[in-house]
Amino acid sequence: MKAKAAVDPSSSSSSRVIVITSGKGGVGKTTTTANLGTCLARLGQRVALIDADVGLRNLDLLLGLENRVLYTAMDVLNGGCKLEQALIRDKRWPTKLSVLCISKNRQRYHLSRVQMVMLVDALRQGYDFVLIDCPAGIDVGFFNAVGPAQEAIIVTTPDITSIRDADRVVGLLEADGLTEAKLLVNRVRPEMVSQEDMMSVADVQGALGLPLLGAIPEDPQVIISTNRGEPLVLRGQLTPSGIAFQECAQQLVQGGGTELLVRRHLHWGALASQWLGSRASSARNWVVEALTGCLEWLGVLHTPSSSYPGQRGVLRGADSSASEEGGADWDEDSLCLGSDAASQEDTRQG
Ligand SMILES: Nc1ncnc2c1ncn2[C@@H]1O[C@H](COP(=O)(O)OP(=O)(O)OP(=O)(O)O)[C@@H](O)[C@H]1O
Ligand SMILES: [Mg+2]
Repeated sequence: MKAKAAVDPSSSSSSRVIVITSGKGGVGKTTTTANLGTCLARLGQRVALIDADVGLRNLDLLLGLENRVLYTAMDVLNGGCKLEQALIRDKRWPTKLSVLCISKNRQRYHLSRVQMVMLVDALRQGYDFVLIDCPAGIDVGFFNAVGPAQEAIIVTTPDITSIRDADRVVGLLEADGLTEAKLLVNRVRPEMVSQEDMMSVADVQGALGLPLLGAIPEDPQVIISTNRGEPLVLRGQLTPSGIAFQECAQQLVQGGGTELLVRRHLHWGALASQWLGSRASSARNWVVEALTGCLEWLGVLHTPSSSYPGQRGVLRGADSSASEEGGADWDEDSLCLGSDAASQEDTRQG
């Protein structure tokens, strides 16, 4: 079986592949993946979560599934099991929410970008959403994780180091041809913002020039829920951060993934943010997008693809070398995702 260079957008599957990334470590990517994934499943969507943090995976911990990781994607790729067997089904939504770990913590890491694309392509057949929890940094793990994605959620905290790293990541994604990016600002502390000790969400959005998916307040319950292995959004009484994650999930489902990337280099986001104020984020997004769309239509603005012809596809160009490196002989059967597939749990019970 030949590896495809990228997920085929014309595939009959209408699933959405979203990478959750940040550049900087520890800003809340895994927390976001677990909580958004859970909310989406609760909304009736079929969701596969991929922990692409190869050496230091912890998505399974946040979901309380750590004792159920029997097989990983590496086992699938090595022919040790089928994809269904490596999927861990969340017992709370066995038909809706599954998790795939790329490797066990001390397993050797030989995954290529092409292999990642193939795994996701196989998963898309059975799921509405595939969320990829990206590792921190911008090394090979990052490039592998973003390879199959059509959309990105950029997670940042309201501090300049995190924002600068996020900005760098947005640039790399654009160069990779991924222009559907949304911003999620995490660990916002309103009391610090009001005292001007912390950047506001509007400031962060202005700096990065991305459509806002949501803002999550700082919340001690996040740490408590992490330690309990139960996503925050499953609490009986939702805290403001739980409500915020839920609203993000609703926006993802309703948004349909057609939102335009605001051209961050042109500062429309910053200007519109200042003009409309911090409480009108959705109206602001609409105005920014309308302005950008009009200017594009008039030919004043160009999309990144035409603005940066030399950069576009630079990263995707890595595919060919990855393909050569990882040129494994594929067992086509192991990547088939049957509707009556057995998950890890089913396998063990069997
Ligand atoms: N809104 C929040 N309020 C309080 N604590 C939070 C919040 N979001 C995340 N945290 C805490 O921040 C820490 C890092 O979160 P998380 O592991 O999700 O980040 P990450 O970006 O995935 O990290 P890494 O880059 O190491 O993978 C965790 O201890 C988590 O509980
Ligand atoms: Mg993480």
